Amino acid sequence: MTRRPIIAGNWKMHLTVAEGLALASEIRNRCARFRGVDVVVAPGAASLYPICQRLADSPIGVAAQNCHHAAQGAYTGELSPVQLADVGCGYVIVGHSERRQLFGETDEGVGKKARALHDHGLTPIVCVGETLVERDAGRTLEVVLRQLDAALGSLRPEEIAASVVAYEPVWAIGTGRTATPAQAQEIHAALRTRLVALAGETVAQKVRIQYGGSVKPDNIRDLMSQPDIDGALVGGASLTADSFTRIVAFENEDA
Ligand code: 13P
Repeated sequence: MTRRPIIAGNWKMHLTVAEGLALASEIRNRCARFRGVDVVVAPGAASLYPICQRLADSPIGVAAQNCHHAAQGAYTGELSPVQLADVGCGYVIVGHSERRQLFGETDEGVGKKARALHDHGLTPIVCVGETLVERDAGRTLEVVLRQLDAALGSLRPEEIAASVVAYEPVWAIGTGRTATPAQAQEIHAALRTRLVALAGETVAQKVRIQYGGSVKPDNIRDLMSQPDIDGALVGGASLTADSFTRIVAFENEDA
């Protein structure tokens, strides 16, 4: 089974609307020719609408970085899946470690969001990952499998198949310290084995599992050569069109 790679740029809390539009246009112009890979950008909330408009006639997808699980209601400061679909988003990142660590996101909350996103036709990009303390304590698998179970537990098999999982070891995020391809593959394989238990072999083989954490143009190819690494969730290196395009073009030597 060959899974279509998916490379997503998480812009986090960077870029003004004008800067984001310029970057989105450049990514569209330079990445649209790479037909064998899904390309997604995740701008900050204030830029979602103009960037969705800018990319509307292109193959580049747009993700929000978070959402609330309710369709609407008295939740000041939140954005619902309905609102995100309305502005043109196709994906939403849920359970990013920064949201778990800095904003109290729980496993249960991530599961509610994934459920709500599928209810409204959006694709969750579900992040899982261990901290350095957890890795050093030998708890990596326990942590990421618990996070995966909680995120996908309420989904039907076809919804699991359509979801994207991102393995992002917290110690590799923004540190320049990438997991080795072998380290990442070990966890990706364990995640896929758990997907088999949750939804069966056929579904598990369809789920795309991204790696995230200091992905750069010079390490993407080795990561992507691993059998269970199906893409990347890129932070810092997604903020310039040059480095992001080189990551998207990982299969094309001449890019
Ligand atoms: P960096 O690529 O900057 O390490 O960030 C990874 C990340 O958190 C993407 O969601």
